[in-house]
Amino acid sequence: MVRIAPSILSADFWRLGEQIRRVEEGGADLLHIDVMDGSFVPNISVGIPVVRAIKGRTRLPLDVHLMVSDPERYAPRFVEAGADIVTFHVEATPHPNRVIQIVKSMGAKVGVVLNPTTPLCTLDYILQDVDMVLLMSVNPGFGGQKFIPFVLDKIRRLREMVDDRGAKVDIEVDGGIGPTNVRDVVKAGANVIVAGSSVFASDDPAARVALLKRLAAEVLG
Ligand code: DX5
Ligand code: ZN
Repeated sequence: MVRIAPSILSADFWRLGEQIRRVEEGGADLLHIDVMDGSFVPNISVGIPVVRAIKGRTRLPLDVHLMVSDPERYAPRFVEAGADIVTFHVEATPHPNRVIQIVKSMGAKVGVVLNPTTPLCTLDYILQDVDMVLLMSVNPGFGGQKFIPFVLDKIRRLREMVDDRGAKVDIEVDGGIGPTNVRDVVKAGANVIVAGSSVFASDDPAARVALLKRLAAEVLG
């Protein structure tokens, strides 16, 4: 089953609760929350109070994508705030194994994120310890960017790596995904799809989530 994770980065924050309801109705599986610190990425988004406010008010697990420097310091704060899964960038810390251990010890799931040009060999000593790998298909920092085509091959190679090792790891892909390319991303091997602008900039976010799910399901037959 392919899961859809709408990213609230592109939501109307004035009506955030209502917008989350809409994607729930559409059959969303996770809620993707992008945290940007103005240091690791050249943008600032939302943080701990927003995660805390959403927690308990939606049935969707909170998929918190940390685009922050020093994730060993901040990941635990997001688990306390209510994150069900925390993903952090391998480029943001010399101690990915430490961050993994901290998050797991708190009872949350953990994933690592790779920027588009970060090679898969970075995962050699990580893959066995994480619940998810998130491959960025845009340079992180902004919603509404174009999908970078070479990432499709990277997804295929990660799918091979995960299957060869028999690892129980979700492959999430984030950036520039919508109805025109979601099938390619699923065909390449992703099983969790993040969609921001394609969901929240549409007139009907519920219908858009349902459409993405249907298109993704078609691929798997
Ligand atoms: C980008 C964020 C994404 C973003 C995706 O740095 O990590 O999650 O919200 O937005 P779209 O789907 O518009 O590319
Ligand atoms: Zn994201």
